[in-house]
Amino acid sequence: ARKRKESMLAAHDLVAKLYHHLLLNTDHGSRARNYLLNRQMQLATIEEFGLGYSLESWDFITHFLEKRGFSLSLMEEAGLLSRKDKNSRPFDRFRGRVMFPIHDSQGRVVAFGARTLGDEQPKYLNSPETPLFNKSQLLFNLHRARAHIRRQQEAILFEGYVDVISAWQAGVHNGIASLGTSLTEQQARLIRRNAESVILCYDSDQAGIEAAFKGADLLVAAGCTVKVAQMPKGMDPDDYIRQHGGEKFKQEILLNAFSLPSYRLQVIRSRYALNDETERMKFIHEALEEISRLPSAVERDHYLRQLADEFHLSLDAIKQEQRKIFKQQK
Ligand code: CTP
Ligand code: MN
Ligand code: MN
Ligand code: MN
Ligand code: MN
Repeated sequence: ARKRKESMLAAHDLVAKLYHHLLLNTDHGSRARNYLLNRQMQLATIEEFGLGYSLESWDFITHFLEKRGFSLSLMEEAGLLSRKDKNSRPFDRFRGRVMFPIHDSQGRVVAFGARTLGDEQPKYLNSPETPLFNKSQLLFNLHRARAHIRRQQEAILFEGYVDVISAWQAGVHNGIASLGTSLTEQQARLIRRNAESVILCYDSDQAGIEAAFKGADLLVAAGCTVKVAQMPKGMDPDDYIRQHGGEKFKQEILLNAFSLPSYRLQVIRSRYALNDETERMKFIHEALEEISRLPSAVERDHYLRQLADEFHLSLDAIKQEQRKIFKQQK
């Protein structure tokens, strides 16, 4: 088993270098180079992350691996090749895509993420689960970001590897991401081992908001202090950084990240038309339900005051109402 894993690792290392070479030094790679250029990806970033390009071919990588004596069925198990069924010949899994090497925590390439150059589906294709690649335990960029995360005692969790890379290029070096799945308990614990505080920085769409709520619960359960950064509607961190630059991303988005209760209240608020009196009352009620769930009396007091101030209500009335809800929740 050890030999098999070593062979899989060696193949990933070689293939990553080959993809990288194809991207930077061949005519075939020019469309992919232009694609990355259009995304404002700099050469130094492409080098740092070892980005690559897989040729539009069914057997280029297959032949490459075969010539170097790798077992093709092992390479299929490693996720570099695919096949239609058990007995048919393996072929290249990744074709005509920008390749993003995925490293384990020791910095070894164990998988790839891959994006189309156009809008073919699926847009992103990742390596499958393999003996090297356990999606629920691995965090993209952790090996590179770890020192920064420890020093700052803060990690930034993004939705995708492109966001991590974009942030890195803009000078934000403590970014990590889960890989095409929602955050798991194991990943939350892994983050906690490196930092106390986490800023969730997901896409500003329905999927991103839901993922942020779920991820936040897991991180809190793992013992992290969680903040949530909010992008303007419809944007993801990469879009924002490209449009406004890294400084603004740090100043406006990261520094203004909400505490978890504020974020929840903020999302609830966005569902009501607050200039309508009935809606306003409904919002206040739902906000009180949310505040009542906070474990700390000090925190509850803080948000109750804020609510009373904003809607010009007496703190007594707000507290009275909140106690009623608090009792019902018990
Ligand atoms: N992702 C993935 N596997 C998928 C879909 C998404 O790993 N099947 C990851 C990718 O890392 C991607 C991230 O989730 O960067 C966010 O996905 P999405 O928001 O849909 O990607 P976009 O930001 O729309 O992609 P792009 O900016 O490249 O168009
Ligand atoms: Mn740094
Ligand atoms: Mn998204
Ligand atoms: Mn996105
Ligand atoms: Mn994007």
